[in-house]
Amino acid sequence: MAAAETTIADPETDRRLMAAALRLGRRHLGSTFPAPAVGVLIVRFDTGVPVIVGRGATPPGASGHAIAIALDEAGEAARGATVYTSIEPTIRHEDGASDTDRLVAAGIQRVVSAMDDPDPQRGGAGHARLRDAGLQVSSGILGEEARRVHAGFIARMQAGRPHVTLKLAVSADGMIGRSSGERVLVSGKEAFARLQAMRIETDATLIGIGTALAADPSLIVRVPGLKSLSPIRVVLDTQLRLSPQSALVQGAGEIPLWVIAGPEAPEAARSALVAAGAEIISAPLGSGGVDLPAALRTLAERGITRLLVEGGARVAASLVGQGLADEVVLFRAPVVVGPDGVRALAGRALSAIERSPRYRIIEEAMLGDDRMVRYERTS
Ligand SMILES: NC(=O)c1ccc[n+]([C@@H]2O[C@H](COP(=O)([O-])OP(=O)(O)OC[C@H]3O[C@@H](n4cnc5c(N)ncnc54)[C@H](OP(=O)(O)O)[C@@H]3O)[C@@H](O)[C@H]2O)c1
Repeated sequence: MAAAETTIADPETDRRLMAAALRLGRRHLGSTFPAPAVGVLIVRFDTGVPVIVGRGATPPGASGHAIAIALDEAGEAARGATVYTSIEPTIRHEDGASDTDRLVAAGIQRVVSAMDDPDPQRGGAGHARLRDAGLQVSSGILGEEARRVHAGFIARMQAGRPHVTLKLAVSADGMIGRSSGERVLVSGKEAFARLQAMRIETDATLIGIGTALAADPSLIVRVPGLKSLSPIRVVLDTQLRLSPQSALVQGAGEIPLWVIAGPEAPEAARSALVAAGAEIISAPLGSGGVDLPAALRTLAERGITRLLVEGGARVAASLVGQGLADEVVLFRAPVVVGPDGVRALAGRALSAIERSPRYRIIEEAMLGDDRMVRYERTS
């Protein structure tokens, strides 16, 4: 029989256990949209040493709730225990389930959460409900880390668009390819592995039609056994120039392919792509092709919270120019492409990111011969 009360942890133990809860939730990042990938631990401190008695992560497809899963595992051991959750418990989910009711009924003594719910309608309400019911609540533990893990959920709730990460493989002289279309930037296996992980952790990945025509990519996860974790593939293609024979379209039966077209796209091309398994989404025209803010809004309405943009130059320039790239990941390869190269930002210098006060470096690493630099937009 579990004891009725457990000891309260010190701040360092709280942070360590919250880091573990965040890692647990992160396992399903990219597979839970539109729900956040929540991680939950239920911990007892009877002997002074933390003992985890329940674990929960939002399952793929968000077919359950992390808190309910963790409470089910803990059973009676939840009475008097502490819950570590990567986001504020919800009073009522869309399916009618209530995290807060379940926590109160289970006899939880203390709830430690990393951040408030970013939904303007719900933010703070779950914590208040728990406090009213007599539970101790500590919030904001590892808040910055949680805001990164839940960046997609936050962006969709607060800005009505996905969180956008722009990835570019760039040569030493700031090029992403050669104007002849010839492939020059072959990243090493370490950078390739990192890109696969980025694809797994995103809901959708996007390119412009220029890249589809030049490189014929499939954009699937190319790790043996993990193809089903591939993101939805999205192409910006105003006039529907994408070939039904392209690798993207050929794989559309297995991994969804959405093509965002302008209002005047030819009907015959539309029918051919639909017949081949692609879904066509209409968007108004905007700067450089389709209207990017409108396209991003549409993706968010379809549940997309995290969007990886894999180029090319014009799409990258549009995103950066319109202030829509929240994160930028550059893989810098030690090759020089020369004057016939395609500039990473279609004419604009990369310093629009590298020297901009709007971006700060949050990670730098050598991946084989490639140097990866990750930037986050600060404003
Ligand atoms: N190194 C890397 O990481 C990397 C990654 C990707 C690509 N690349 C290279 O980049 C080159 C392709 O670059 P790219 O600039 O030609 O192609 P892109 O950026 O992939 O596609 C540009 C095209 O997308 C369409 N588009 C629709 N809406 C747009 C919008 N709002 N903003 C911008 N474009 C929009 C436009 O064509 P429509 O008007 O017809 O719709 C536009 O011409 C290739 O050489 C490729 O190999 C390198």
